[in-house]
This record gives sequence, C-alpha cells and structure tokens, in this order.
Amino acid sequence: MSDDIRWVSATTLDDLWEGDLLDVEVEGENVMLVNLVDGGGVKAYQGMCPHQEILLADGKWDPDTNVLLCHGHNWEFDLRSGNGLNPTGCRLYEYPVRVEESDVLVGIPQDGQRHHLRHEVP
Ligand code: FES
Repeated sequence: MSDDIRWVSATTLDDLWEGDLLDVEVEGENVMLVNLVDGGGVKAYQGMCPHQEILLADGKWDPDTNVLLCHGHNWEFDLRSGNGLNPTGCRLYEYPVRVEESDVLVGIPQDGQRHHLRHEVP
C-alpha cells in the first residue's frame, strides 16, 4: 500500500455540522463525509454502495445510532467503522481525514487505483 496521499480540501465544518452527512467529489472520487455526533469526529467513506453502486448519501441516515440505510436494497452500515451491519462481511472504503481550523481535508491515495470496495460474494 502506498503512503503517498494528497490532502484535498473537501468542505468546511460550516457545511458539515455534527450529525450531517454530505456527498462530495474530491479529485474525481465520490466521497461521503459524515460528522458523527457526541464527538465521534469526521469520517470519509466511498460514496457508492458496495452492493450496486447507488449513492449512499441518498440513503436514510440516523445520527443517533450512526446507521446509514442504503435506499437501494436496505443494506445497513455503521458509519463509525464503515462496516456492514446487514449484511455483515462488507465494508466501506475509508479515506483519511484531517480537520484544520474549519477546513475538512480528505487524503486521496495517489496510487492510480479506484478507491471503492465491492461486496465480496463468499
Ligand atoms: S445498492 Fe445499496 S443495498 Fe443495493
């Protein structure tokens, strides 16, 4: 794995309040940002569902439980970890995030690969 990442400003905390979920494009990558409640911090995940590539930000987000429900076929993800809850055995690709002042920076790997995990059928 390459340590070579580029930090790119994706948004500011003015547009990503605690409990907010935001869909952004960063250097051509579809990224979903979430600002978890109760000091959970900002996370950045792939923006497309690992099932059939529907936009995850269009799903139903519950900031109190940290669970995102994809509106495609109701898969559930825990946005504290990116892990699939239903079904298990899948997860979302997570980008590194840094918050400087109110700027939210996302680390985009410069490895020339697509940063999108697919569900692996056992
Ligand atoms: S596309 Fe998300 S659950 Fe099917």
